[in-house]
Amino acid sequence: MSKKYLIGLDIGTSGAKCIIVDDEGKVVASSTQEYPLYTPKPGWAEQDPVDWWDACVRGLKIILPKSGVKPEDIAGVSYSGQMHGLVALDAANEVIRPAILWCDQRTQAQCDWITEKAGGLKGLLTYTNNQMLTGYTGGKILWLKEEEPDNFVKMKLFVCPKDYIRYKMTGTLGIDMSDASGTGFFDVRNRKWSDGLIALAGLDKAIFPEAHESTELAGKVTAAAAAETGLPEGLNCYYGGGDAIIQTTGGGMVKPGTLGVVIGTAGNVAMALDKYEDNPNGALQLFCGNEPGSWMALGVTLTAGGAYRWYRDELCKYERTVADAEQRNVYDVMGQSAEQSVPGAHGVVFTPYLTGERCPYPDPNCRASFYGLTLGATKADITRSVMEGVTYSLRQLVDIMGSFAHNEKVYTSGGGSASQLWRQMQADIFNLPVYTMSAASEGGAYGAIMVAGVGAGIWKDLKEAAGIIKAETETLPCPENQPAYNDTYDIYCKLYHALKPVYDLSAAKGY
Ligand code: XUL
Repeated sequence: MSKKYLIGLDIGTSGAKCIIVDDEGKVVASSTQEYPLYTPKPGWAEQDPVDWWDACVRGLKIILPKSGVKPEDIAGVSYSGQMHGLVALDAANEVIRPAILWCDQRTQAQCDWITEKAGGLKGLLTYTNNQMLTGYTGGKILWLKEEEPDNFVKMKLFVCPKDYIRYKMTGTLGIDMSDASGTGFFDVRNRKWSDGLIALAGLDKAIFPEAHESTELAGKVTAAAAAETGLPEGLNCYYGGGDAIIQTTGGGMVKPGTLGVVIGTAGNVAMALDKYEDNPNGALQLFCGNEPGSWMALGVTLTAGGAYRWYRDELCKYERTVADAEQRNVYDVMGQSAEQSVPGAHGVVFTPYLTGERCPYPDPNCRASFYGLTLGATKADITRSVMEGVTYSLRQLVDIMGSFAHNEKVYTSGGGSASQLWRQMQADIFNLPVYTMSAASEGGAYGAIMVAGVGAGIWKDLKEAAGIIKAETETLPCPENQPAYNDTYDIYCKLYHALKPVYDLSAAKGY
C-alpha cells in the first residue's frame, strides 16, 4: 500500500502555517505565511479573515509542489486556529466586519454583565464550567449587539478563525467542540451549546454554528477551492480544533497524567482528561478535547518567557555586550551566569506578574517583584531567580492538575525548553521527569494532522496517533536540589497573599 499523507493548517495570530506529513509522522514540507494585526484603538486587536485565506492559499501552493506528493495519496486536511476570535457572517456568509481576536480586551463590561446575569461566577460555572474571560467570543458577541447594532442585526452566524478557512475550502459551516468551549457559551460537560445561558443573554440560538467533534468529516474541497489552492477536489476536510487544545494533542499529551508545559511568552500547563471534571473556582480553562469523551484542562500564567525576555532587555545589557563580542546567544550567557548561583538562588525570589496574572490568581492588579535581596545577592542569583520564579508559577498549575490525575511526566516546549538548565529546574521543581518531544515545534498544525488521520481511519484514535511522536531529550529530577527549591517555593506562594493589599493599593493609585 502506498504511503498516505495528511495536511495540517494552523491559523495563528502572526501567520498561517501549512504542513504536509506522512503517515509515520515525518514533516515532508512546511510553509508559514504572515499577515498583519490591526489595533484600531488601544486594547483592540483585529484581523481580516481574507488575509488568513490568502496566506493559506500561498502556503498550500508552496508545500504541495515542494512535497512532490501525488494528490491521490493525500488522505485528509484538518485545522488548528487561534481561539475565541469572532468572525461575523451575514446571510450570504460574507464577513461583516474585521474579526475581533482572542487578545482583544474591549469586552470587560459585557463579561461582567453576563457573569452577574448567571448568578455570579458560581452560577456561570454551572452553565459552561468556565469563566467568561475578556478574550472569549461570548463577550465579543454581546459587544457587537451593544456597540454595533447594525452589524449585529446583519450577523446570521458567527464562527471562529479556523472555521472560516474550512468554510472557504468546503463551503460548509460549523465549529468544533474545543473552539466552541472557548466561546463561553458552550456546555462543556454535555458537549452542546448552553441553551440556558444563550437565553439569559437574550441571544438567538440560530447565530451559533453546529458543533461537531474535531475528528468528524466536515466536507470536501470544492472545485473553486481546488482551483485556487492546488488541493485535489473532493479531498476530505475534518473539523480540527482551537490551537491551545489541539497543540497539546499534537505535542502528544493525550492521556491524563502527562502534563504539557509551555514556556513561551506566556506559560501554560495542560492535561488531557478522559472524563469530565469540574473547574476548581473557574481558575482553569476546562474545554472539550479533540475526540469524543476527552476534555482538556489548561492553566495560563501570563508572563513566563516574556518575563525572562523583559529581564534580558532591561537588566542584561552587559550580558548582551559579552554575547555580541563572543558571537553567542545572549540567553547562553545569561544561563551560564544563572548556573553560578545555586537552587533557590540564595533566597532571592522573583514573582513574574509583569502584566497581572490569569492563573492561579485571576488578578490584573498584582505586579512583579524581587524579594530576598541582601548585600550578598549577586547578578547570578537574580538571573536565576527569574527562571525559578516562572517555574514556581508553573508548579502552582502543575499542582492544580495533580488534583485530576496522578502527575507522571512533563512534555515541555516553547523557547524555555531549549535551555538544559531550565529543563533541569522544571524536573527538580515539579519533581517529575521532563521530556522534549519530536513534533513540539510544529504546534497546532501537527495536532491537526493527527485529527485528520484519525478522521481518515489511519489511526484508531488520538492515543494511537500519538505513537508517531518520539521523545528527544529526557531530564530526571535531582533529589539533592529539591529541599532548597521547596523552601523558596513556599516563600514564593506566600508572597502573593502577603503583597495582595499592596497590589490593590498601588492599583488604586494608578500603578
Ligand atoms: C487560548 C488562547 C490562545 C489563543 C492564541 O485560550 O487565548 O492560545 O488561542 O493563539
